[in-house]
Order: sequence, then C-alpha cells, then structure tokens
Amino acid sequence: MSSAETTIASAKRMTEPAKFDVNRIRADFPILEHTVKDRPLIYFDNAATAQKPAAVIHAISDYYTSVNANVHRGVHDLSQRATEAYEGAREKIRAFINAADSREIILTRGTTEGINLVARSFGGKQIKEGDEVVISTLEHHSNIVPWQLLCEEKGAALRVIPMTDDGELLFHDYEALLNDRTRLVSILHVSNALGTIVPVRKMIEAAHARDIPILVDGAQAVPHMAIDVQELDCDFYVFSGHKLYGPTGIGVLYGKSEYLETMPPYQSGGDMISTVTFERTTYNDLPYKFEAGTPNIAGTVGLGAAIDYVRAVGLNVIADYEHELVTYATEALTAIPGVELFGNVGDKAAVVSFLLEGVHAHDIGTFLDHSGIAIRAGHHCTQPLMQRLGVAATARASFAFYNTTEEIDRLATELPSILEVFS
Ligand code: ALA
Repeated sequence: MSSAETTIASAKRMTEPAKFDVNRIRADFPILEHTVKDRPLIYFDNAATAQKPAAVIHAISDYYTSVNANVHRGVHDLSQRATEAYEGAREKIRAFINAADSREIILTRGTTEGINLVARSFGGKQIKEGDEVVISTLEHHSNIVPWQLLCEEKGAALRVIPMTDDGELLFHDYEALLNDRTRLVSILHVSNALGTIVPVRKMIEAAHARDIPILVDGAQAVPHMAIDVQELDCDFYVFSGHKLYGPTGIGVLYGKSEYLETMPPYQSGGDMISTVTFERTTYNDLPYKFEAGTPNIAGTVGLGAAIDYVRAVGLNVIADYEHELVTYATEALTAIPGVELFGNVGDKAAVVSFLLEGVHAHDIGTFLDHSGIAIRAGHHCTQPLMQRLGVAATARASFAFYNTTEEIDRLATELPSILEVFS
C-alpha cells in the first residue's frame, strides 16, 4: 500500500461517530507534528486555510512523479492519463456536492474567481441600468467588490440584507428587498468572520418564488457540512479547495447548465474554443467553455484526494465533532472575564470571534503566536461587517476536525495572561 492509500484506509476506519479518534486523524496531518516558537503548533486558523493530510500531499507528488502532462491535447499515454486524473477529480467533485452532471462543475482558481466569473459573465449579460443585486452584511469582500464593480459599470444598485447584533440575517428584510428589478441574489452559506450558518435553503426558495437566480458562496461551508446542490436548488455554488484540506489555487464553480449554457466565456484562449478562424471563434462545450488555458491539473488531482479523505472520515462525523469543539470553546471563553464574543447565534460553524477588553486584536494574535497558537486577527476581509459590529477587528479561532478540546484549554489559559499584560 502507498502511504496515500494507508492514510485513506486510516480515514475510512473513522466512519462511526462513536469511534472518532482525533489522534488517529492528527497523525494524517504531518504539519501538526511541528513546533512554533518551541511550543507544539496549535493551528486555529482553519477558516483562512486548512492543513493538508498526507493523502493530498502524496497525490500531488505522485501526479508530478509519474503522470504529469497537459490535458485534452495529447494522444500520448501520459497526456491521456493526466486527462483521466483531471476529469476523474472533476467527477469526484460532482459527486461530493451531488451536482446532476459534471458539465456543471467549472474548475477555477478559488471562490473569488468563481464569483468574478459569474459577475462578469452572467452579470455582464443580464444586469442593466436600474437593476439590483442583493448581498448581505455578512459577506466577505470577494462577494461584495465584484458586484460593486459590476453595478458601477452598469448603473445598477447593490442592496444589502441587514443583520441582528448577533450576526443573524433578517429574513423579512431580505424578502422585502426582492423585487422585479432584482437580477441576482449572492449570499454566503457560512460567515468566515462569525461562523453564522445562513439558512440558505429558505433564502433560495424566497428568491425562486420571484424567479430570481441565486449564488451561494460556500467557501466556509464545504469543509464543515455535507452539501447537496440539487437539494438546495441553488443556481450557482462556489468554493475553494484549500479550505477543504486540498491545495491552494484550485476552486469550484457549480452552475446549473441552463445558466452556464447561455453565459458568454469569462476568459478566452486555448481549450475553451471549438473552432477558430481570424474571422470568428466558436466555443467549446461545458465545462471547457469556462476553462481557458492549461488548468491547474495537479491542484485538481489534490482536491480530488482531499474529497476522498473527508468523505472517508464522513462529513456528518466532522460536523458533529466540530460542533462539540465550538460549543466547548464558546463555554470556555465565555467564562473568562474581559472576553467579548461576537456572533452568538445558535446555528454556527466552528468559529469563535472575540476581543479582550482593552486589547487590540493584533496584540492578541501576536501574544498567542508566542505560545505556538495560530489564530487570525483583523477584519477578516469583512470590513462592512466589522463596521456593523462597531469594531475595527476581532481575534478569530477557527477549528478543524483535527483540533482538540485540550488545544482549546491551552487557548483559554493564555487569554487571562494577555489581559493581565494590558491592564
Ligand atoms: N477568507 C479567509 C479567511 O476568512 C482568508 O481568513
């Protein structure tokens, strides 16, 4: 058995919740053996990017060692095997989110590119002066700025769903924003800054009741819960590979074929064409119409391996375990005087966003780093959300299924000492 197979076999043994053994999972992630500032690494920055299991690292290395060639072009053996590996990974992605057809799976550089593709291609064609696009207060900059640019260019308007102080979107206000000028709703599934799980199913139904298509930014959802795009009935769903334990530089745009078929190409060049003359070009079929140039083949193969890995562990097992972690962390931090928590909603993913009285978020991050604890401090690419919360920044610990309650105890032990230094 190769080491990649051993890792997947070890993950497969974890399918029963009762048998979830975090130490066996941790052994699959080589970076977790490292120390930072002479302390064991505690990695709580998973919402920024997740660590990679050996299965993913080996899949990329094996691809470059024994398969590497360009795809869709060559008649030679390696090219055919590279194409099989690339298209095989696309099929794994399709099955992972239960899309009806692999033609609906467009490989991108990441969530940001997926949203820009829809903004430029769908929005460029469908959105006109006086039209409206609806987003929410919780959005990451990547689901604000592409729409802002498009609206400025077209003379359209951006409408924003408001939220409660705790970070829950106001559903009735959302419904009130939808009207016959609304051309698209684009909302996140899970907030990167607060962890709020948005009730997207209900929001999709409300948009569809008015024949409005809807894009869901699933960057922070896919690592934490099972996604079924047909059950959700979203029109577009985007996510990144690197938050799902896969490599950076690879992401996915799912789109219903009825939309993708009518959308013009986003980028142009090789592979996205059917025929080219100096007078005229015709375009390739889906999904290739949206994949100009040599794609990120190794990244796609790595994402396929990451999907094999998380599916072997089980998305429901992951969701249950991470729910335990976030509940444990919320209780531990709430018990510390001087800690203020943000995003106190019932339904949330594995994120705790907090501040310590009188301490800047960056100082919290720097102090924790000295103890080997990696968190993110800052505005989390959500400046409008920070303004709504009335803060410049927060400290954020975001968990993965390889984290432990002992690591959370270490975080909770450090916080009072930080408060002491700044008092
Ligand atoms: N969007 C990523 C984060 O929340 C980078 O940290």
